[in-house]
Amino acid sequence: MDSSIAVIGGTGRVGRLVARQLLARDESVRVIGRSTQRARRHNPPQAQFFAADVRSPATVRTPLHGCSAVVYIVEPGTDDAGPDSPETTLHTGVRHVLDALLAASGNPHFVLVSQRHVTRRDHPMNAYGRMLDWRLAGENAVRSSGLPYTVIRPGWLTDEPGHGHLHLEQGDVGDGRVARPHVADACVESLYSPAARGVTFEMRSEVGPGAGSPPWDELFTGLRADTPTAARAALA
Ligand SMILES: NC(=O)c1ccc[n+]([C@@H]2O[C@H](COP(=O)([O-])OP(=O)(O)OC[C@H]3O[C@@H](n4cnc5c(N)ncnc54)[C@H](OP(=O)(O)O)[C@@H]3O)[C@@H](O)[C@H]2O)c1
Repeated sequence: MDSSIAVIGGTGRVGRLVARQLLARDESVRVIGRSTQRARRHNPPQAQFFAADVRSPATVRTPLHGCSAVVYIVEPGTDDAGPDSPETTLHTGVRHVLDALLAASGNPHFVLVSQRHVTRRDHPMNAYGRMLDWRLAGENAVRSSGLPYTVIRPGWLTDEPGHGHLHLEQGDVGDGRVARPHVADACVESLYSPAARGVTFEMRSEVGPGAGSPPWDELFTGLRADTPTAARAALA
């Protein structure tokens, strides 16, 4: 890439894998999160750390300035209202980041890690501060931003060492777990594949022995591009 890639939530369990993979590709990486201590513990020194909170727009402007891509992997709070409610990070925080990127007049690729079930309002996860509704609102903000984007919807995340074949799905009708390394791979690979632009997909890993590296180009090419109608229907 021409300039740095920002990993917001790059100190987290998926985010730190993303940061390491990007560094291995000789990218310049900016890790963004609230805790310097967490960054020291989980990120190599080559990753440049910026202390920032997506709920506070003034803090994200400098770290995002001039980035060629952004990966947003932020874990929400679960309060019904207030600063630790899902709304603040899954929608307002996404808007703050989009505003900063659009004001900087670049055209960075925005990779958003959302979650499976996001269009199923009756799912039990929505009992936590309307988490699914706010995730969908964040997705829609990204899809309508005009920036190149990829929306990734993992199911329940696992850390089991072996993970089998990976499936990408669309329509938010299925279920299933997915290995954190598969999600990290999807974030990174989507930055380099034109077929991963303008798409929203769910992810599921089969349980089983390691299946080697998934055929990313083939998986991305098999996806349907989003349409404005599809995004609106997802809100119904
Ligand atoms: N757990 C599941 O089964 C599941 C299922 C589907 C999707 N997901 C989503 O998958 C993503 C990755 O999950 P994970 O397990 O890697 O999460 P994680 O380990 O909890 O990491 C979350 C990251 O978010 C950052 N963060 C939290 N609040 C922030 C804020 N206000 N401003 C800036 N950064 C903030 C944290 O850093 P600081 O605390 O230092 O700020 C940390 O780097 C998350 O978005 C999660 O919601 C999870």
